[in-house]
Amino acid sequence: MLEQVARNGTAAEKENSNVYYPSADIADRAHVADWEAVAQEAQQDPPKFWAERAEELGWYQKWRTVLDDNDKPFYKWFVGGRTNIVHNAIDRHLQTFRKNKLAFIWQGEDGSEHSMSFFSLNREVSKFANVLKALGARKGDRVTIYMGRVLELPIAMLACAKIGAVHSVVYGGFSVEALHSRIEDSQSRILITCDGAFLNGKVVELKQIVDEALKRTAAVETVVVYKRTGKPVHMEEGRDYWWHELMALPIASPKCETEQMDAEDPLFLLYTSGTTGRPKALVHTHGGYSVGTYTTFKYVFDINDEDRYWCAADPGWITGHSYIVYAPLMNGATSVIYEGAPTFPYPDRWWRIVEKYGVTILYTAPTAIRGLMRFGEAWPNRCDLSSLRLLGSVGEPINPEAWRWYYKNIGKERCPIMDTWWQTETGMFMITPTPTVPLKPGSATRPFFTIQAEVLDDHGHPVPSNEEGYLVVTTPWPAMARTVYKDPDRYVDTYWSKYPGKYFTGDSARRDEDGYFWIIGRVDDVIKVSGYRLGTAEVESALVSHPAVAEAAAIGLPHEIKGNAIYTYVILRGGFEPTEKLAEELRQHVGTELGPIAKPEHIEFVPKLPKTRSGKIMRRLLKARAQGLPEGDISTLEE
Ligand code: WTA
Repeated sequence: MLEQVARNGTAAEKENSNVYYPSADIADRAHVADWEAVAQEAQQDPPKFWAERAEELGWYQKWRTVLDDNDKPFYKWFVGGRTNIVHNAIDRHLQTFRKNKLAFIWQGEDGSEHSMSFFSLNREVSKFANVLKALGARKGDRVTIYMGRVLELPIAMLACAKIGAVHSVVYGGFSVEALHSRIEDSQSRILITCDGAFLNGKVVELKQIVDEALKRTAAVETVVVYKRTGKPVHMEEGRDYWWHELMALPIASPKCETEQMDAEDPLFLLYTSGTTGRPKALVHTHGGYSVGTYTTFKYVFDINDEDRYWCAADPGWITGHSYIVYAPLMNGATSVIYEGAPTFPYPDRWWRIVEKYGVTILYTAPTAIRGLMRFGEAWPNRCDLSSLRLLGSVGEPINPEAWRWYYKNIGKERCPIMDTWWQTETGMFMITPTPTVPLKPGSATRPFFTIQAEVLDDHGHPVPSNEEGYLVVTTPWPAMARTVYKDPDRYVDTYWSKYPGKYFTGDSARRDEDGYFWIIGRVDDVIKVSGYRLGTAEVESALVSHPAVAEAAAIGLPHEIKGNAIYTYVILRGGFEPTEKLAEELRQHVGTELGPIAKPEHIEFVPKLPKTRSGKIMRRLLKARAQGLPEGDISTLEE
């Protein structure tokens, strides 16, 4: 129906609906001109669809089987195939004109700039790969990367992948305990970091945080430190080495063979928050992840060689892994990476970047848009944004008001907004439009080709149109996480047990009469704060690690800019007084342990917490009470 109006509808018909139809020039150049036709064909034979996409990439050896589902839910893709994501992200381009094309354009917060061609990227990655080898990194070893947003971060990731080491990037906004627990779980012997990072005109002391974290674990033997700020840092004799000094040694030869990997070999671990305090790492692979991210990026952002693409996220999250580093490079795209924040030194930092580098595709999060909206239209209006062609949104539901502001003031009513729903676990876009799809503000539209999603009630029955239920995915996809690192049972329990055979997303959603999905939010213990994914359990353990705290509960409550904000309830140990000063001390403590993004918005001291008879904190009830909503079923509440 929507497609029909898109193709044959009159201007008046389009004008009068609440639906945004793509303009003819967007449709004319789209990789996917006829969404319905591609979707239908893909649906008939999903492995065929993915095999054809995989053929566009390079393989050392072709796969035998596209999809092996003999051991559900441990699906395998491109079985028997041999490749390396770096072969597709870099090596292949060196044989084409793209060798001289810019891979990255980087701008520092201090205004410094650095651009890098695919040729130079290969050189730096190869050199650093040889450094890693000289430091003893072998295929399968985990390497933790904890850096600011400098080009050396993707270089370090690619160098690991090139030699078959498994990177584990910890977001640079995390702090001591978050870093420590991730190092400990992955048992990384090598850690790559920076002396510091520039953010909002200040310096984040990354190396100091590393030193603190390493006091708590003996796993790390070697630390490589990239000098970004030049502020003096402690360098531990025999453990810490400067990046630039290693890169100047003969071991850093610019020639390095890319390791031939099995399609199912792990590429990276990425930790994400869950229901218990222990962080869990999702495992992504070289083969399926390459095919899934390459394809979705190409079709959704309609990438071409003329484009200058900018994803303003951080490489430390899945968005950055998939759509700053790997998918753009595999597509031979030129990407912008920036260091800093949207509003420093002024709230036009982003619009100046778009203007200066001629950005054609901008991909960001609703929270950033809401944050920038506050400063008014004058800031973007002063800049030339006419290079933009497509916009993107990710990380949380985009409220229609922010959608319209973004569409009008940034896209100037020319640029469709690709609202992409996906997760660390999915690796790639799952529910998303492509540029010709009619858009409804606030809806991520429909599942990507071959993917099927449903909205179910507690008993596993589909709910009627427009009613809320649990979002599940019923078909496998190539970039799906293969397991939870070292804990396959947890993988099955968390994602495949609520509805056996179906992937449980942890989100609730509605599907409307056009088959469009409207994501509502998390139904588990994950809180999305400014698009960042945090776990109630991690916040609670950070609080409980303070000597004054006996017990704590964390919940997410709606927040105008952040989407959700963290509210906490704390029971103090005997002898501690509930003062404003202590509350502030606890907030700081969470900041130092977990990271500034996790600092609670509000701390309330309480004498007790609502629990079930089996002793589990009823966060749902805390949430309802805090918002003055009905308390729902409280039959399990202890007396
Ligand atoms: C939320 C981020 C609505 C959702 C890529 C999901 C979204 C969680 C959207 C995953 C979107 C992501 N609309 N909600 N377009 N994209 N989410 O693992 O709750 O950091 O489950 O991955 O973000 O967060 P994660």
